[in-house]
Amino acid sequence: MKIKILIVFGTRPEAIKMAPLVLKFLGNHNFETKVCVTAQHREMLDQVLDFFEIIPDFDLDLMKPNQNLYSLTATIIESMKPVLDELKPDYVYVHGDTTTSMAVGIAAFYSGAKICHVEAGLRTFNRQYPFPEEFNRQLTGKIADYHFAPTILSKENLLAENIHEENILVTGNTVIDALLYGIEKVNSENFKDGEIENLKTFLDFQKRIILVTGHRRENHGEGLINICDALKTIAQNHLDVQIIYPVHLNPNVVGPVNELLGGIENIHLVSPLAYPAFIWLMEKSYLIITDSGGIQEEAPSLGKPVLVTRTTTERPEAVNEGTVILVGTDSNKISEETEKLLNNSEYYNGMSMLHNPYGDGKATERIVNFIEKL
Ligand code: UD1
Ligand code: UDP
Repeated sequence: MKIKILIVFGTRPEAIKMAPLVLKFLGNHNFETKVCVTAQHREMLDQVLDFFEIIPDFDLDLMKPNQNLYSLTATIIESMKPVLDELKPDYVYVHGDTTTSMAVGIAAFYSGAKICHVEAGLRTFNRQYPFPEEFNRQLTGKIADYHFAPTILSKENLLAENIHEENILVTGNTVIDALLYGIEKVNSENFKDGEIENLKTFLDFQKRIILVTGHRRENHGEGLINICDALKTIAQNHLDVQIIYPVHLNPNVVGPVNELLGGIENIHLVSPLAYPAFIWLMEKSYLIITDSGGIQEEAPSLGKPVLVTRTTTERPEAVNEGTVILVGTDSNKISEETEKLLNNSEYYNGMSMLHNPYGDGKATERIVNFIEKL
């Protein structure tokens, strides 16, 4: 009898980080592998499914415009029941810290399946930052039977919460597996991409590119306004620089960003880019300003310094390595650090060293081997 695996995700970053695991499980005939998407995100999820050529077996299609945490959580738990009843999986895989991860973890627990948590053990130890992700991740850690920790530090966090060591495996982050696959595909001769071609029509590669993203709930409102102020200052002081900002579809982000930064000549606001165009653009960038978790993990592999617009991070490894700086949402601090990186090449070179503490591209192999041995 084959071991039944159900892999569930719903947002863009979960899809990117779970895609290599889906492909690895599907290629191993000891397992019967099914994929379920909650579609907590719709367009931003579908972009990833297209690139990795993954067709979900179940699509709950749950996204609502400007959805709230209460109804999203309740609907996910309720909608997972028929899937779990039909499939009766031995193992359910969830990823990270989203509402999908937490709610699917609860539903899987009710079903009696063993729960495998990928990207386990990251902590800020402050339940308000990031909100609600820190809480989601802690709760999923409580529910999970097996914990795939990306780094030694994340394993130590789990041990400190009395998780048994034999149920934790340090794997590296699957985001690096995805990135290596993605970069190879994007750079292959036959790969053609309309979005990349479009970017080439308006970006001037003689000028340095600053790539920006931002979406965190705790930055909505004042934080986002401050970040936009800083970007405006940087754009005005540096006509030799272009800022490109693929704007997250959350209405609490798109609205203010378009209002505050629309119409500035060297700031390009674009829709979220599909993963291939985004990683292509990361490679072309001089520096990245972001509050994204995944981008903090990817950028060191591409040798790009990152200014993180948060006051605390559950990913301190790259901060300790010196490739990432936490700048918070103080507009002066953001523009000062950006100035330093634009004007001081020694400082820039020190930050763009190529060591990545988050993985070596073999995380999915380790995860599958672990379950095979069980
Ligand atoms: C979610 C996750 C966050 C993750 C982020 C990645 C939670 C609580 N938050 O935040 O951890 O870092 O995704 O991007 O799980 N929308 C669209 N189309 C899309 C995606 C979003 O229109 O493809 C809009 C919708 O109006 C949606 C809103 O964005 O209601 C918010 O989406 P939601 O998943 O609730 O929150 P995010 O801010 O995206
Ligand atoms: N990303 C993308 N297109 C974009 C912006 C980001 O494909 O326009 C990718 C990026 O490479 C990374 C992931 O999306 O792998 C990060 O997602 P996001 O910032 O939405 O979520 P977080 O990582 O903060 O949870």
